[in-house]
Amino acid sequence: MTERTLILIKPDGVQRQLVGRIIDRYEQRGLKIVGLKLVRVERALAEAHYAVHRERPFFGELVDFIVSSPLVAIALEGPNAVAICRAINGATRPHEAAPGSIRGDFALDTGKNLVHASDSVENAQGELALWFAPGELQAWDRSTDGWILPG
Ligand code: RTP
Ligand code: MG
Repeated sequence: MTERTLILIKPDGVQRQLVGRIIDRYEQRGLKIVGLKLVRVERALAEAHYAVHRERPFFGELVDFIVSSPLVAIALEGPNAVAICRAINGATRPHEAAPGSIRGDFALDTGKNLVHASDSVENAQGELALWFAPGELQAWDRSTDGWILPG
């Protein structure tokens, strides 16, 4: 089942110049980039994005962090894209993230775990609408689709 999901390469990933290496993980898996931009996030957008965590003790720190420096927002498409991206990212807490995952290979601290990925198809739709205007998302045919996608 084809899905779209939102990835954020958070400010630590941009500052550490890991953008290319992180995007490579999703691309080499076969996921298709359908949206991509560097964003300096407004506080209101950061708070809306993390609204489910509003009551958590780390909410203020999380929002401060996400607005501190530019981040990269990416929309990815593919079969089971939501679950696949969660697996590529690895567990939230880097000491629990498997080697081979982004967090398992590049992160040590939960607050500086480099990436975000939507956690359900429903949340992905809401997050994509928050981060991308409709005209910023492109449906396009990839020459290798027949070698990667089902059917
Ligand atoms: P994400 O939303 O960024 O993909 O990460 P996630 O689903 O793996 O983790 P989530 O529970 O949604 O938490 C969102 C982000 O908040 C930070 N966090 N800090 N100090 C803490 O205990 C704590 N817990 C979570 C992390 O940066 C996490 O990615
Ligand atoms: Mg989350």
